Amino acid sequence: MTTSPSRPLRCWAEIDLAALERNLKLIRASLPSGMRYVAVVKADAYGHGLHHVAARLMHAGADLFAVANVTEAAALRELGPGWPILVLSPLLPEEDRFLADHDLAATVSSAEEVDRFEAVGRAAGRAVPVHLKIDTGMGRLGVWHEQSAALYQKIQAAQHVRLAGIFTHFASPDDNPAFTAEQRRRFIAALQNFRGLDPNTLFIHADNSAGLETMTPDASLFNAVRVGLLQFGILPHPNSLLAQVHTEAVFSFRTRVGLVKTLPRGTTVSYGCTRTLTRDSTIAILCAGYADGIPRAASNRASVLIGGQRCPVLGRVTMDQTIVDVTDLANVACGDEAVLFGRQGNAEITITEFSRWADTIPWETLCSVSKRVSRLYKTALGT
Ligand SMILES: Cc1ncc(COP(=O)(O)O)c(C=O)c1O
Repeated sequence: MTTSPSRPLRCWAEIDLAALERNLKLIRASLPSGMRYVAVVKADAYGHGLHHVAARLMHAGADLFAVANVTEAAALRELGPGWPILVLSPLLPEEDRFLADHDLAATVSSAEEVDRFEAVGRAAGRAVPVHLKIDTGMGRLGVWHEQSAALYQKIQAAQHVRLAGIFTHFASPDDNPAFTAEQRRRFIAALQNFRGLDPNTLFIHADNSAGLETMTPDASLFNAVRVGLLQFGILPHPNSLLAQVHTEAVFSFRTRVGLVKTLPRGTTVSYGCTRTLTRDSTIAILCAGYADGIPRAASNRASVLIGGQRCPVLGRVTMDQTIVDVTDLANVACGDEAVLFGRQGNAEITITEFSRWADTIPWETLCSVSKRVSRLYKTALGT
């Protein structure tokens, strides 16, 4: 571990950077050769910590980094001068100048953005790189595919804007292959309409983690993928074919027992009295609550691992504590480790399972682990 905090940890995340590196290599090996790897590291690298994650992914050979906004991009730029960075979200007008200051590529969805970035490039004396985004059915960012040729022409005609990539984003790659195929078709049709297009000089990308499931081996025009969740060892849905890639979970979420006590049958537990003990019970109070990232929706539903055994959450998750039933365990003591998701001995709770208990998805679970939670980095390359 790289971090050795002076105070004992009450709630922490263990982040296995060696697993992250292995994951990137496994994903790469599963892709058609020559496919470039865009590492999606927005939202503090999905809560894993931007600096540590990006440094390791640079070492592992990512080709380009995608972040949400210029603040994230500026933090990443400090780490990797010269490394290509794509900003995925639209910029506010006051943010435009940071494209030149930090040498960033912007996402373009509109003619107005081209004009703004042209002005930035002219003032800086060099062209601003952009990735043209095409809306093929997501209904969010991008120019609508049927109108994309005009925007492509405008970019090509601009003197201080340089086309560096073209991309789209899938709306339902995890559960709607027919719609995903239609989005691919619209994207390819749009590209075929672009006069003078040379795909070899551009990043052409559509696939996020779930998209990879339906990417055909020939992949035609596509020459890059944008991978977020899968590089962290998490499948985009439980039945995903990507299980065959054998990535490993990078992030585990851990806390400790702060108090053990007994309560008589019939007692109610936690705020709102939503749980009544049906037997004389031993309960453990964990040193983590919703302020750390255990969603309140997991109240009365989640389990945690203590001593390698599953212990159900009793009553409502509170801000700083969560109560679990340890009646069936021998020798639970103050200070024992409790795993919210991750491995403990031979037992495991996956983030997917944890997220289901909280009526959410792994992406949101990771983004909800708060800054109160220390991140401990495991760096050594092992097996
Ligand atoms: C535009 C875009 N591309 C790629 C990704 C990565 O997706 P995933 O984490 O499913 O791989 C995201 C994630 O939200 C995204 O917004």
